Amino acid sequence: MKALITAGGHGTRLRPITYTLNKHLIPLANKPLLFYALEKIAETGIKEVFINVNPGEKELPKVVGNGKRWGLKIKYFEQTGGPKGLAHVVKVARPYLKNEPFVFYLGDNIVLGSIKPLVKKFLKEKYNAFITLSKVKDPERFGVPEIKRGRIIKVEEKPKRPKSNFAVTGIYIYQPIVFKILPQLKPSWRGELEISDLHSKMISKGYRIGYEEITGWWKDTGKAEDLLEGNALILENIKNNIQGKLGPRVVVEGKVQIGKGTRISGKTLIRGPVIIGNFSKIKDSYIGPYNSIGNNVEIQSTEIEHSIILNKAKINSFKRKIVDSIIGEEAVVTSAFQTLPSGHKLIIGNNSQVEL
Ligand code: DAU
Repeated sequence: MKALITAGGHGTRLRPITYTLNKHLIPLANKPLLFYALEKIAETGIKEVFINVNPGEKELPKVVGNGKRWGLKIKYFEQTGGPKGLAHVVKVARPYLKNEPFVFYLGDNIVLGSIKPLVKKFLKEKYNAFITLSKVKDPERFGVPEIKRGRIIKVEEKPKRPKSNFAVTGIYIYQPIVFKILPQLKPSWRGELEISDLHSKMISKGYRIGYEEITGWWKDTGKAEDLLEGNALILENIKNNIQGKLGPRVVVEGKVQIGKGTRISGKTLIRGPVIIGNFSKIKDSYIGPYNSIGNNVEIQSTEIEHSIILNKAKINSFKRKIVDSIIGEEAVVTSAFQTLPSGHKLIIGNNSQVEL
């Protein structure tokens, strides 16, 4: 079997971060999002992986590399014409996948459990396609299955009136028969070839689609809140590992990782789960649960919780609390208290969000 992973798309809901960083490279617990997908694929025993990128993408293949570190062989291809839908990704990938079954994994999805048992079930029970479901509070944001007497009879993409409270997650398994169905699909109202339409078409033509509810948590990280939640879910499972230097008045509670060359000083409390990268400096601060702090970050006199701080950011909030935030590379957050006139001074890029 082979695997196809998405790393293209628009990334509009994560602007301004995605103006300069492919969304699949945004770090969760200090590791690029796409690495989680690659780990799950490697676990199945699949070796050959094809990753689709938007035309002209240079950075992602550089960061992800040839796959050796996961025991994989990764090749990249551009989605001709840009992001024209998930079924379009599969269509463009046909020459690479040849005539073999494959796992199609959306690179912005993260999942706790192994996908190996799903692949086994798909092969053993000889399905034409296999999809995975997860119960959600807001099914209208996803592909939603209509299930009757234990069988999926239709899948609707982002329906106004969902027929179940399941989302179809971004982990699919297909037989090459899908390549015969794809040419029959028409672009949806949003101009995309929808993966849900592929599934509905297969069902209407009598092909067998198996499904299983995903165990443990699953997250689509399309929006900022989802990224923060995904980050928190991953941090739940980290182990203690402190390599940096801690001053005498620093208190560390719970599961905390601190990278090499990082210095924590002054009166600082770090309450895990928290991960802090290498060569960062933290002084007189409260680093609360569910923070991921990158490399070369400087934080002083700040209280921060449930946030993702990218490399080289500098923060000094004068003890005011920052929560639920994503702070980009080299971004600077300082206090207006020491300067005149006092008041919020903002230099923020297009599509930024600030809650004062
Ligand atoms: O996460 C599960 C959901 O993923 C499913 O429930 C939906 O049925 C499915 O359509 C998809 O919905 P999203 O709106 O979340 O898809 P999104 O546009 O965010 O794209 C998902 C991934 O595919 C992401 O890695 C970006 C990439 N992509 C997307 C498109 C449309 C591409 O590489 N090329 C594309 O043309």
